[in-house]
Amino acid sequence: MDTILEIQNLSKVIKGHFLLKDIQLKIDQPKVYGIVGRNGSGKSVFFKTIAGLLVPTKGTVKVFDDHIGKGKFPKDFGALLDTPGFLGHYSGLRNLKLLSSIQNKVTDEDLKKAISDVGLNPNDTKPVRKYSLGMKQRLGIAQAIMEKPKLLILDEPMNGLDESGVHDVRRMILDFKKQGMTILLASHNSEDISILCDVIYKMDNGKMTLLQDNKPLDHDRVVKSD
Ligand SMILES: Nc1ncnc2c1ncn2[C@@H]1O[C@H](COP(=O)(O)OP(=O)(O)O)[C@@H](O)[C@H]1O
Ligand SMILES: [Mg+2]
Repeated sequence: MDTILEIQNLSKVIKGHFLLKDIQLKIDQPKVYGIVGRNGSGKSVFFKTIAGLLVPTKGTVKVFDDHIGKGKFPKDFGALLDTPGFLGHYSGLRNLKLLSSIQNKVTDEDLKKAISDVGLNPNDTKPVRKYSLGMKQRLGIAQAIMEKPKLLILDEPMNGLDESGVHDVRRMILDFKKQGMTILLASHNSEDISILCDVIYKMDNGKMTLLQDNKPLDHDRVVKSD
């Protein structure tokens, strides 16, 4: 199978601090990969480096065989990062239209479907500044999936969601997996990670280690309360 993500000897140093330390990772199977780790351990820095928003100090990041960094962003890739930047005075749909006009790969129908897939109303004209935190988070996920990426990064997607929102997002993640997406998920909630992830890594002070591989998943726990 083709390599989805390949990271070799990746370090990120800012102002003399090692935020990432010599990370190695090779992913060639579409599964859900989880990263656990306390606040400040480097999960978001790691994801931003994969997204091409931070350039490695040392080492390489390859997504589908393209080298990422220095102005090169991954293809077939979507991400919910910790700072979804929407324009507050526009509707959700208008925001996604603007963001998707960069790649110009998807139709309005695709955008509407992405918005309804995350449980929002695509015809809602309310400006995003009036959205609750949970609605913004859902729109962030819609933005991440709108171009039907093969590799999806979700950085703390449950942030700001109530119990039913968490439940919806868990189901979404399992649906995306069924559609063949590879998903990298960071969460400080160990229950989310244990229910959703086939493979689990731990980030500790910028060092990443494998915690568990090919874990049997108890998907029933996600759908039980339907
Ligand atoms: N742009 C940046 N410049 C300098 N330090 C940063 C930057 N972004 C994050 N950091 C630092 O890197 C460390 C890891 O942060 P982060 O990846 O956000 O942690 P996590 O997502 O695991 O909570 C923290 O000490 C944070 O303060
Ligand atoms: Mg983070």
